[in-house]
Amino acid sequence: MNKNPIGVFDSGIGGLTVLREITRLLPEENTIYLGDTARVPYGSKSKETVERYSFEVSSFLLKHGIKMLVAACNTASAFAVPRLNAELKIPVIGVIEPGARAAVEATRDNRIGVIGTEGTIKSSAYTVAIKRLNPAISTFVKACPLFVPLVEEGWSNDEVTELVAQRYLQEMKDSSVDTLVLGCTHYPLLKDIISRVMGGGVRLIDSAEATASEVKRILAASGMLNSRNEKVNHRFFVTDSPERFLSVGRRFFGENLSEAELAHLEG
Ligand code: DGL
Repeated sequence: MNKNPIGVFDSGIGGLTVLREITRLLPEENTIYLGDTARVPYGSKSKETVERYSFEVSSFLLKHGIKMLVAACNTASAFAVPRLNAELKIPVIGVIEPGARAAVEATRDNRIGVIGTEGTIKSSAYTVAIKRLNPAISTFVKACPLFVPLVEEGWSNDEVTELVAQRYLQEMKDSSVDTLVLGCTHYPLLKDIISRVMGGGVRLIDSAEATASEVKRILAASGMLNSRNEKVNHRFFVTDSPERFLSVGRRFFGENLSEAELAHLEG
C-alpha cells in the first residue's frame, strides 16, 4: 500500500479529462495535477521542446513525492514518454498505448482512424502502437488543430464546431474507418459532434478511460494502491495564473475544481 499521490501532467487544462477518469476509477487515491498553462499548446511544438517541457514538469511533480507519473497530454505521451520511462525510477505511462489497445480491441474491420494535434499525428505514435499490436490493421490519421481552441472557447456543441468537424473528418468517413481514436485531451468533449459527423456505427475511443484502467492495473500489480479510508487530497498546479484554469477547467473536471496553486518550474 502506498498513499503517495499519483502525478498527472498536461500542457494545460485538457488533461483534466484523464484525471477525472482516474479519480472515478480510483476514488481512494491522492493526486497531484500540473497544467503547464504558461506554455500551452504543446501540440504545435517540436519533439525537442515538448520533451524538455515534460522533463521540467515531471521533476516538479517528483519533488512532491509522486508514486507514479501519468502524461495525460497526447503530444507529451507521443514525444516524451519513452525517455521519461527510461530515465525515471517510478512507473510512467502515457495515453497512447492504452488508447491504441482499446482501439485494437474495438475494431471489427481492422480500419482505425486517429485524430490529434499536429505533433501527435506527425510522431506516428498511435500508428506504431496499433501496428505493434496487430500489423494487419490499417490506420488513417488526421491532425485537427482547430478543435482545441474551439473546446476551450466553450463551443463543444456549436454549429461552427460541427462545420469544422465535417471538414476535418470527411476523409475519415471516405476511408470507412469503423473506430476513431480521440487522440487529444480535448476531443472527448466533442464526442457528440464527432459521433454525429462520423455516424453512429463508428466507435469513438477515449484514451482517458483506457489510461485510468492501466493506472489501476499497474498500481495493483506493484502493490501500490492506496487502500486507506482517509480523506483524499487532489492538488492542482498551473504555471500561469489560475483564474482561467479554474473557470475553463470546470468544464473538464466538474464543479469540485475550486483551487489551483502557481508552480515555479526549474528549467
Ligand atoms: N494536451 C494536448 C494533447 O492532448 C492538447 C493541447 C495542446 O496542444 O497542448 O495533445
